[in-house]
Order: sequence, then C-alpha cells, then structure tokens
Amino acid sequence: MKSIPPARLRKLRTWTHYESASKLLEIQKNGNLKPLIDLASNDYLGLSRHPKLIEAAQKSLDKNGVGAGSSRFITGSRPIHQELEENLAKWLGYERVFLFPSGFQANLAAVISLANRHTNAIADRNIHHSLITGIKASGAKLIRFNHNDVNDLELRLKACKQDSAAYKSLVITESLFSMEGTSPPLQEISKICNKYKAKLLVDEAHALGVLGTEGKGLCRDLPIPPTMISGTFGKAFGSGGAFLATNFELGEELLQTSGAFRYTTALAPSLASAALAALNLIKANPTWGEVLQSQAESWRNKILEKGFTRPPGRGQILSLIIGQDQDALNLQSQLEASGILCIAIRPPTVPEKTARLRIILRRNLPEGILEKFLLNLRQK
Ligand SMILES: Cc1ncc(COP(=O)(O)O)c(C=O)c1O
Repeated sequence: MKSIPPARLRKLRTWTHYESASKLLEIQKNGNLKPLIDLASNDYLGLSRHPKLIEAAQKSLDKNGVGAGSSRFITGSRPIHQELEENLAKWLGYERVFLFPSGFQANLAAVISLANRHTNAIADRNIHHSLITGIKASGAKLIRFNHNDVNDLELRLKACKQDSAAYKSLVITESLFSMEGTSPPLQEISKICNKYKAKLLVDEAHALGVLGTEGKGLCRDLPIPPTMISGTFGKAFGSGGAFLATNFELGEELLQTSGAFRYTTALAPSLASAALAALNLIKANPTWGEVLQSQAESWRNKILEKGFTRPPGRGQILSLIIGQDQDALNLQSQLEASGILCIAIRPPTVPEKTARLRIILRRNLPEGILEKFLLNLRQK
C-alpha cells in the first residue's frame, strides 16, 4: 500500500440510531456506545427512520421477499418498480424514468448513454467521482470548466465547436455540490448548452427533496430542461437506490443499450416501496425544504458572526474551509467531544490545502444545537 500521512488516513466507524433520527450511537471497538447528534449524514429529512417508510418497506418485504432475484429484463421487475418510475416521471416532468441499484451506477449509465469516444465531456471541475468514472468508461474526451463558472463553460464549448464539427459535446454538472454546498446557475448553463447544441446532464442527488419548488430539485422549473437528470434515494429520500429521468427517445435507447441497467439485479423492491413512501411524504409536505433552507441561512449567518468565512450556497450543506488536514480534524474532534458529529473532509476528496468541516443540516434538529455548535467551534 502507498504510504499515506496519518492526518489523511480514513477509518471505518460503525453506527446505530437511538431516540430520534437526528441522534446516532457510535458502536466503539470496546463495545461502548457513544451518542452524537448527526450533522454528517445525507438523511436530510430524517426519512430513513420515518414510520411510513418502515411500514412500506415491511409490507413490501412480506409481499416481494428480500431480493428481486434477477435483472429487470429477466424476472426482476415488480409492479412497485413501474409505479415508482411513473410517479417520479410525473413529479419531475420527464417522459421516462429508470431505476438503478445505486446513484453511482445510475451516473455511470447516464454518461455512457450520452457520450462516446466522439464526445467532448465538458464537466464542472468538482463533479462526483461516479460521473468521472462514467466519462472514462465512455471513452469521451474529458474537459473541465471552473466550478460553477458559466463564462469558462462557454469558452470551452466555443473551443470545442471550432475544434471539430464531428465531435459532440456533453456538459455535466450537479445541482448541489456536496463538498462545497454551492449550486450552479442552471438557467444560464441550460441556455448555453442549447445555444451550442450540447447535451446537459445534471446530478440532482443532493437537491432532490430539499431544494427547488416543493423539493422537486433545481431542474424542475428550468425553461430548457436538461437532457437527463440523475437522482438517488439514499439521501433525502431515506431509502436506497437511484434513478435517471429523460425524454422518451433517450429513455428507449437507455433501456435497449445500457449494460449498467441490463446486467444488474433490480433494485430491492422494499427499497423501491420505501422510496415511493418518501416521495408521497415529500409531496404532502411541500415546505419541508424551505424550512430547512431558512434554518441553513441562520447557521450561515451565525458562523459568519463567529468570525469564520460564511459557508457558500443556500442549501442544507455548509462547507467551512479550514485549510490544513490536521486543523479540520481537530475541529471535528472538538465538536465530537461536545456530542456533535461533523466530518472533516480532506484531500484527495477536496483540493490540497482546502480541508474543511462539512456541516449537514437536517429536519427536526434538537433545540439549542446551533448554540452548542457555535460554542464548540473554536480554532486553536
Ligand atoms: C453527487 C452524488 N452523485 C451520486 C452519488 C451516488 O449515489 P449513491 O449513494 O446512491 O450511490 C453521490 C453519493 O455519494 C453523490 O454525492
């Protein structure tokens, strides 16, 4: 194994829940349980422990068993898969939706279906590892544009156009970047893509359920919708699995040609049932996302008042750039000693010298948590 500096080593920790969705118990090596408030997971709406999701998953287990048993094309398809796909398509305003066992796999499938070795894949510098892996697998030429920088994107699209008419362009970005907490100007990006006849793929993993009108994500209301979006059920939806949404024609192409869709066991039916229950809850509670965003606004303001840089963006993910790995780890330990779990994110996940503390807000945090957090946010 390569030698890794101590401040950069990762270790696996094991968790369980207690009392409420926002409190975690770490199962320590000696068997002791250490309670911590969860400002780290992506269970933004606390749905992974919601009784409606648990009930839906349990009923589905009784009816469908545990595993789907095979690919969707063999015997893996269940009515719940189709029901969830149809409901999501309607909610998101797309003609076709396809489920996948994970967001990583959905992103691979998305890029491979939209790009090939004749494609310029023009990607935001900070896109998720799964999208980069998809670009590599597709054989497309990777070109990166500066994070959320529309002018840089346009320069790159222009250059590609002049380079070779035979090459097609695919622009790839996310609607809420999980390491930065930022969102791109999607309306301008989709306009530019339209101008240069480039396809646009947007990963809505972190925005769905929280951002946009009624939590429908940041692509739902765009005048020119992206060619395809991806989403996952492992975050705000509190379940597991993922999906791609697109138009009829590209959906049919995906269905007929995607190895990542065809050669994999169908999403476990109980996860699909829980995801549908989550969708119904999000529809029935259209202000959940707004409440979380106004809470995030208060946190940002208070962190600024405390003398730190105001975390960028408007969503539930707050990224506090610290710099050195060890300093970010020290802050994490300090907060943990006070009963709060926030994770220090270090290179190579983020660029060198930009180690950060990532604070993830969630619905129904306990009273007084912001004050407690601020009290223990001290840099030595
Ligand atoms: C932006 C983004 N896309 C996709 C994924 C993958 O989703 P999943 O956890 O469902 O594989 C993640 C999760 O880490 C993510 O952050």
